[in-house]
Amino acid sequence: MTVLKEYQEGKTTFLSADVDHYSSKKGQPTSDMPVFYNPRMRINRDLSVLVLDTYCKTNQVDLICEPLTGSGIRSLRYLNEVKGDFHSVMFDTNSEAVEIAERNVASNGFDERAQVILGDARILLLTESRGKRFDFIDIDPFGNPNPFLNAAIQGINPRRGLIGITATDMPALCGVYPRVALRKYGGISIRAPFVHELALRLVIGSAFSVAGMNDFSISPILSLSTDHYIRVWIETKASKSEGNQDSERIGLVRYCRHCMAWDVIPLLALKRASEFRHIRSGCPDKVEVAGPMWIGSIQDPEFVTQTAETMEEHKNSISRRTKLMLNLITQESSIQEFYLDIHQMCDIYSWPPPKQDDVIKSLEERGYKCVRSHFKPTAIRTNATVKEVVKVIKSILGER
Ligand SMILES: C[S@@+](CC[C@H](N)C(=O)[O-])C[C@H]1O[C@@H](n2cnc3c(N)ncnc32)[C@H](O)[C@@H]1O
Ligand SMILES: [Zn+2]
Repeated sequence: MTVLKEYQEGKTTFLSADVDHYSSKKGQPTSDMPVFYNPRMRINRDLSVLVLDTYCKTNQVDLICEPLTGSGIRSLRYLNEVKGDFHSVMFDTNSEAVEIAERNVASNGFDERAQVILGDARILLLTESRGKRFDFIDIDPFGNPNPFLNAAIQGINPRRGLIGITATDMPALCGVYPRVALRKYGGISIRAPFVHELALRLVIGSAFSVAGMNDFSISPILSLSTDHYIRVWIETKASKSEGNQDSERIGLVRYCRHCMAWDVIPLLALKRASEFRHIRSGCPDKVEVAGPMWIGSIQDPEFVTQTAETMEEHKNSISRRTKLMLNLITQESSIQEFYLDIHQMCDIYSWPPPKQDDVIKSLEERGYKCVRSHFKPTAIRTNATVKEVVKVIKSILGER
């Protein structure tokens, strides 16, 4: 018999398989647990609550769907913590998960607003949305979200919808298995000092393709990278013309691992691509190329700011880490350049890393925007070029 345990997250008390009992040997919850729940993903769910609550302030949301629900905690938190009277539909192929999620729905008093269905999400997303399309779909799978994306786009409200996408297969997305990334996400991954940003952009790039083939456009409004997974919230809309415009935001990323220079080439401008500009002389001619992937914005600064404001209303039910993360995301949301890992840059140049605050101060003194990045504790985001950052670090180190 499954060993169950009562958990509390946000404002919700619920049952799931005992994480300590089932992960004692492996140290981490694994996909073979009788009912999956990963307490470390709390920051993902906290932020998801804040994003949906913010979205509901300006959009009509009647029906939401969590196609891969596990214990049901994510949907229960939406029902408990997001203002609104929407209904939630949850799916899972695991009959034990469905049974536990149903018990959790009942014990939280949501029988009237939630339904849990046993079956394959790829079918149910289509069949359960024929009467009324979903206004929000939350795809939170083991590994790759793409097998569920086509059905999700076809199940989302064509006038306007929101899709949350989690991806956890970081080895493929972070350049360990570039061929796997090409096969699963339609773009090549590389190892680079901003690898998690590339991972996010590969996932958004594949969402562009799936949306586009269904005559939908996409618009990423908030992105998160932490604890070996990435998460992005994408607004969707049935629009061929806006989908065509999205094509301008698909491109390749070129990167030199000898000097850390990088640039992007929109696929539509491939023929006009200029010569790659290295930062120091003597780099080999060959640069690494990643993509195609999304090269447009990964955050909507206005939406991110509104979400940070919403956080005030939820301050007692979200974790300290979520608050820190969202504050960093807000600060960096208006800077388009990729984040830069100062420590990796110093490794490449064989320098001792300077204090991050000194780098930020020096760049600001030179008139650039520069903030810490939520992607990594050792990373900054600045509108200065990599060459400029190299110059600044060199001068800080020279002053020592
Ligand atoms: C990562 S867990 C979900 C965690 C949950 N969303 C949360 O926030 O706690 C993925 C779930 O998807 C279920 N699943 C896997 N493949 C599925 C499919 N094709 N259709 C429906 N459920 C599926 C698994 O049984 C598992 O419960
Ligand atoms: Zn170079």
